[in-house]
Amino acid sequence: MSLIYLNGEYKPIEEASINVLDRGFIFGDGVYEVIPIFNRKIFRFSEHIMRLENSLKAIYMKNPLKENEWSDIFYKLIGSLEESNQSIYLQITRGVSKRDHDITIASEPTVFVMTRPMNMSNFSSGIKAITHEDIRWKYCDIKAITLLPSILLRYKAKEQGARETILVRNKYITEGAASNVFVCADDKILTPPKSNHVLSGITRDLLIEILLNNDLPLVESLVDENTLMGASEIWITSSTWEIIPVVELDGKLIGSGKPGPLWQQANQLYQEFKHTYCD
Ligand code: PDD
Repeated sequence: MSLIYLNGEYKPIEEASINVLDRGFIFGDGVYEVIPIFNRKIFRFSEHIMRLENSLKAIYMKNPLKENEWSDIFYKLIGSLEESNQSIYLQITRGVSKRDHDITIASEPTVFVMTRPMNMSNFSSGIKAITHEDIRWKYCDIKAITLLPSILLRYKAKEQGARETILVRNKYITEGAASNVFVCADDKILTPPKSNHVLSGITRDLLIEILLNNDLPLVESLVDENTLMGASEIWITSSTWEIIPVVELDGKLIGSGKPGPLWQQANQLYQEFKHTYCD
C-alpha cells in the first residue's frame, strides 16, 4: 500500500491531515525538495540534502532530521510503491502557530514526505516554450513552497500551447518556471551562473560536471535575450524532466526545429551516468 510520511508517522495519504493553522498553509512558510528515484535508488541524495540544508538555513530553520533518517524515510516510502522510478516530494514548514508574521512563535516544524511514480513523459522530440519577464522575488535560490509566481508563469506557457516558460530579468535569462536552462550559441553551451535569481538545480550541476568531464564547451555565463533567440539549441533541465530540448520558442523554430546533435550527445552521456549509478 502506498504510504506517506507525516511528522513521524507512516500512513496512506487519505488518512493524513494537517492543522489549518500550519504556516505552510497560511503563509507558504516552508521549503521543499523533489528527488528522483531511479531503479529504486535515490539519485544525487547528498546533493538534494545539501540544498535542503541551504534552503532551511536561508529561512532561519534547522534540518529536523539527520541524513540517515531522511534516507530511512525515503526507502520506506519507495518500498510501498510498485514502480521502480519515482519522485520523492518532501516539504518542511515552520509548523503551527497563531497567524502572526513573527517566525519565532512556531516551535515544531511540520515534515511531510510522499512519493509517486515518475511520469517519464517522452519529450525526446522536444517541447515548445515561451519567454516571459521573470516576475518572481529575489530569493530564487531558496526552494520555497511559495510558488504562486512560478505556477502563473507555467500557466502562461500552457495558454500558448507550450510546456515551459523561460524567464528573462533585465534582458538576461535566469531559468525556467520550474527548470534550469542551457543555450547552445557561438560553439559554446551556455548556462546562467548561480545567483539569487536562479535555483541551484541538481540536474544542472550534474550536467555541467558531465559536459566538462567529456570536454564539451560548457561555460557558465550570462545569456541575453538575443543570444537565446538566435540559439542553435536550447535545453531545459530538472530532476523529473532530466534534459529536454526546446524546439520552438515564442513560435519561432530553434535550429532546425528538431532536437539538436549536442542535445543527443549530452542526453546520452547523462543517461549513461544515471545507469552506471543506479543499475
Ligand atoms: N523544480 N529551477 C526551478 C525554479 C525549479 O523549480 C526546478 C525544479 C529547477 C531544477 O532543479 P532540479 O534539477 O534540482 O530538479 C530549477 C522541481 C522539479 C519542482 O518544483 O517540481
